[in-house]
Order: sequence, then C-alpha cells, then structure tokens
Amino acid sequence: MKLNIALLPGDGIGPEVTKQAVNVLNAIAKEYNHQFNYKNALVGAAAIDATGNPLPDETIQIVKNSDAVLFGAIGDPKYDNDPKAKVRPEQGLLKLRKELGLFANIRPIASFKTLLKYSNLKEEVIDGADFVIYRELTGGIYFGEKKLSEDKQYASDLCAYSSEEIERVLHLAFKAAQQRNKKLTLVDKANVLETSRLWRRVAQDLVKKYADVQLDFLFVDNAAMQIILNPKQFDVMVTENMFGDILSDEASVIAGSIGLLASASIGTKSALFEPIHGSYPQAKGKNIANPLATILSAAMLLDHFNLHEEAETIRKAVDKSLEDEISTPDINKENPKTTLEVGEYIVNYIRGNIICKKSSENISLGQSTII
Ligand code: IPM
Ligand code: MN
Repeated sequence: MKLNIALLPGDGIGPEVTKQAVNVLNAIAKEYNHQFNYKNALVGAAAIDATGNPLPDETIQIVKNSDAVLFGAIGDPKYDNDPKAKVRPEQGLLKLRKELGLFANIRPIASFKTLLKYSNLKEEVIDGADFVIYRELTGGIYFGEKKLSEDKQYASDLCAYSSEEIERVLHLAFKAAQQRNKKLTLVDKANVLETSRLWRRVAQDLVKKYADVQLDFLFVDNAAMQIILNPKQFDVMVTENMFGDILSDEASVIAGSIGLLASASIGTKSALFEPIHGSYPQAKGKNIANPLATILSAAMLLDHFNLHEEAETIRKAVDKSLEDEISTPDINKENPKTTLEVGEYIVNYIRGNIICKKSSENISLGQSTII
C-alpha cells in the first residue's frame, strides 16, 4: 500500500518520539512491502517561532493532501506561564482538529500484563481492564464562545452542542460497542448541565437502532471514581470533549504510564494519530521520553487502513519490549533505557531479530544479531 503521511512533530518531546515512530513505520514498510511517504510540517510553538502562526497555511495544505497525519505533541511553558499570550501553541492543534473535521477521538485503555506489578493501583483491580474512550473532539467548551471583559475581571467559556454533533460521535461509539462487549457508557453531568441532558436524549433515541448494545449513563464525577475503583466494568465509554480529555489522562494510570497511551482522531475528511500525552518540556532533548504512545499511535494508523497484521506486529513488539524491561524511566526506574534504545528495540523486533528474552541481553541494541 502507498500512504502519504503528514508528520507534525510539534513541540517538546514531540520530535523525538515521532522520529522513533517513523523508524518503526519504515521497518513495517520494508517487511511488508509498503510505501510510506512523509512530509514534515510545522505546528504549535515550533510554528509560532518560525512563522508567528501555530497552524501555518502550508501545514494545512500538506495535511489536506495527505492520507493521514502523525502528530507528536504540543505546548511550551513559555506560553503556559503567560496567560496574556495572544497566540498559543494549542490553538494549532484545535484548529487542525476543526479543519479536518476530526470529531471523534478514540483512546484505548488497557493494562499491560508485564506492568501490573509496577502499578500504583492493585493488580487485581487493573488486571484484564480493557476499554476504549470515545471523546467528542470538535465541540463543547473547547470551541464555544470565549469572553474576557474589557477590564479583564470577568471571563466565560461557553459549552455548546448540537444534536448532530452528539449523534455522529455516538454512532461511532455504538458501532465500536457492537464490535466489542456490547456495553456503552455515556459519561455526562446531566444532573447539572443542559448539554448533558441533550446528550442523554440523543443517546436514548439512538439506542433503538443498536438494540444489541446495553446503554448506561454515569455522572462524570462518579465515572472518575469508578475508573480507578473498578475499571473492568467498562467496555466503551463515550463523552464530551473536556470530560474525555480529563478522564483519559486519569485512565492512563491503568496502563502504567501516560507514555503508553495512543489515540486516533477520525471524522469527515481525514485521520490523525497522536499520543495522548503532552509535550513534556522538562524532558525535551534528553532522550528519556517514552516513544511507545506514538509508536502505538502509528499502529492505530495502520489499523485505520486495514493493515491489521502490521499493526499487530507493532503491538507485539511493544509487549515484548515491556516484557524485556526495555523501557524509559517513566516505567523502568531501576535500569532505564533511552527513547532511542526503545525505538531501536521495536525496530529490531519487527525485523525479526529478537528471538528470545535472554538472548536479547547479548544483543547490543541497534545491531541485528540473530541468535
Ligand atoms: C490532548 C491535549 C490537548 C487537549 C491540548 C494540548 C490542547 O491535552 O490531546 O488531550 O486538551 O485536547
Ligand atoms: Mn489531554
């Protein structure tokens, strides 16, 4: 298959982790005879520094002419610490999501067997946890009208949803539930918010078309607690933009590190794949950031184009790296590996060079020794 991929590494650790994901994609292309072409484009603080615009027109053009986007991370403390900044890096990502009509952000959450013992949560609570969050991505409080009074003493952000915006993401979530364990949980705050009551009404109407799916409702405050208390109760969770943002970070504790969580954003025109973590500026350039979330996002990209075997190979390689404790310091505190070493390990696995756990100790990373 031939794929044109727009690469938007962005800020902070974004460039380091996307580099590893590209190496992994190239290894897949070689093993499975695909042709992946890349075009780099600027976004976020990197784009502001170069052009004054967090999403330059050139980037929009490149992205629109591509089959998919692989995105790194966005954000810079320079802007976080300056609430008065007129242009912010995050505007680049938000505009991109809107421009591409990426209304659904899919965030799979699962515990990794090999990481259970390191978790802050009890093994028996997270062992077997496996659910997916469908986060609405182009509406709600993120995109509602924003106001700041002239004297700057009053501010507001409007949370607004139309039934169409709700319906389209719900359709995808219902379909996902049909493919999985047929349980859909709508997370909202319907005891307080009018928008949430609209979400419930639309969901109650739609469920008639998906009679095989069991639809539940959960208030977001309770959901935040249930995710930690008993994550195994969830199959597919669907929720509005900001609740989904917060709950997916929380849910990453189940996987073991936010550095492991991938996501796919899909919608009307294009598809974008990105780790759920931020730009982690403290780690920038230090070769310590976990590249697995971006590598797993690349696997989701392959799934999107029905390259399931290829995606599965990446996931197997990731499992093997975790099993062999070839992990960055967010996971392996005692004997951490670098971003580059983790990436090279995955690439070597894909090339078929990692045969068994013990022999791997003899292979100096980056070399293709077959034992
Ligand atoms: C995410 C991020 C973004 C969001 C930021 C960087 C705007 O936190 O993708 O989860 O809030 O959507
Ligand atoms: Mn987030």
